[in-house]
Amino acid sequence: MIDGQGRTIRYLRLSVTDRCNLSCVYCRSAACNEAPREDLLSFEEIVQAVRIACELGIDRVRITGGEPLVRRGISGLIRMLREGCPIADLSLSTNGLRLAELAGELKRAGLDRVNVSLDSLSPDRFRRITRGGDLGEVLAGIEAAQEAGLAPVKLNTVAMRGINDEELVELALFALDRGLTIRFIELMPVGEAVASGLWPAAHLPVPEVRRLLAAELPLLPAEAAPGNGPARYFRVEGYPGAIGFIAPLSEPFCADCNRIRLTAAGELRPCLAHDHGLSLREPLRKGNEVTVRKLFLQAVNTKPSGHGWGESQETTTPMADLGG
Ligand code: 5AD
Repeated sequence: MIDGQGRTIRYLRLSVTDRCNLSCVYCRSAACNEAPREDLLSFEEIVQAVRIACELGIDRVRITGGEPLVRRGISGLIRMLREGCPIADLSLSTNGLRLAELAGELKRAGLDRVNVSLDSLSPDRFRRITRGGDLGEVLAGIEAAQEAGLAPVKLNTVAMRGINDEELVELALFALDRGLTIRFIELMPVGEAVASGLWPAAHLPVPEVRRLLAAELPLLPAEAAPGNGPARYFRVEGYPGAIGFIAPLSEPFCADCNRIRLTAAGELRPCLAHDHGLSLREPLRKGNEVTVRKLFLQAVNTKPSGHGWGESQETTTPMADLGG
């Protein structure tokens, strides 16, 4: 599918639940509006939507949430997607809590690879950032994903001033040592990040993160690692892993955006930063594929040219006490 700006859309971010077993300080609010269960797409409806998306040119799918591993039967859905849709790259983003338990069966069901969020290697700080998460479980999950061959395992770290900036080098070395790819992501002005005042106080621009790391690690520009996204990659001689940077604010990549989103309740969203969407739920439930197809094309057609996050947002509340 080609959108109104001439961008080719081939990557679908598929949310399978809006629930999460964590409540990270920068993500959705703790008690955000969860859709009633009957509004969630069934596995059959999801597969139908993805099959139609593939017919329209989507060939890369990332399963997201909420936390996708809390959706019951998730491995079964992955098997159904594998069997029902010609997907070249099927990946999943997770907080890692249930990964130690599920990595093997996810791989056997046909999942190619995982991205795991990891913002700190200090158990206390990790608990504060995630509001209750157990770092040990996530580290065990990362190891299990590697053992299961969900490769390349990538780590996502939101780099935050005053929160985890002093351990970014340690996080990079953790990844480099283990042959993992770590991507440092700029804090974005969404959900809790804005509500808690974390944005813009903790926003740490990627050029600054890069400088901070380069002071201790000789970063060599690298070929893009396999993926679909906007990360720019570097290597460090002698290490198998890689370091990437994702800078939605300081180095926006909207002009190259290749993605569209489908929410757990069946709404097609052309852009992360815009709430407007088109619901596929009723046409999927009625088996009306012509309408589903039309809605995909319409959503792609109306994809905004950029995220539109202004530079002049102000903090209204003091930054939550998350440092230390
Ligand atoms: N800014 C940057 N990244 C975010 N994520 C969630 N909320 C934000 C935000 N406000 C990231 C998580 C996870 C991925 C799914 O999205 O860290 O790695």
